[in-house]
Amino acid sequence: MERPTIKPVINLLTRLAGFALLAVMVTSCYYDSEDYLYPQLPGGCDTTGVTYSGVVSPILASNCNSCHSPASPSGNVITSTYEGLKTAVDNGSFRKAINHEAGASPMPKNGNKLPVCDLNKIDAWLNQGAPQN
Ligand code: HEC
Repeated sequence: MERPTIKPVINLLTRLAGFALLAVMVTSCYYDSEDYLYPQLPGGCDTTGVTYSGVVSPILASNCNSCHSPASPSGNVITSTYEGLKTAVDNGSFRKAINHEAGASPMPKNGNKLPVCDLNKIDAWLNQGAPQN
């Protein structure tokens, strides 16, 4: 025995459910962009193939060498030559200073921390053993 009123109601509910599902699908894709989910990962910051001459040295030239050149090296640290930098790398002060970690004066002195991408690139170079490449 059929009840005539139930069919249009089910029909309407089916349409509403379909519409709701569509709305969820459309909006759920909205924040799937790589930059939103992984702000510092590959899309935004390429840490492959980082070299001293191509990447690290220019970052130091822009942010550090004004205070750390052989002519008047602040804190007796030189960042403008590989040998000078390697000394600070080997004694651990370089990594601590640029990452504002305990045990070293935060650098650049009186300035903002380097951009995260620059720090990630330097980190990649340090993890290779800080080669003169
Ligand atoms: C405005 C000048 C200035 C700039 C720019 C600067 N430094 Fe320094 N740096 C100093 C001074 C001065 C010291 C001595 C310690 C102190 O006074 O904090 C020092 C100390 C250091 C030390 C030794 C820290 C310790 O506690 O042993 C390291 C390593 C260093 N700087 C690296 C850097 C690097 C890398 C940069 C760039 C990202 C940089 N500095 C930028 C002035 C500067």
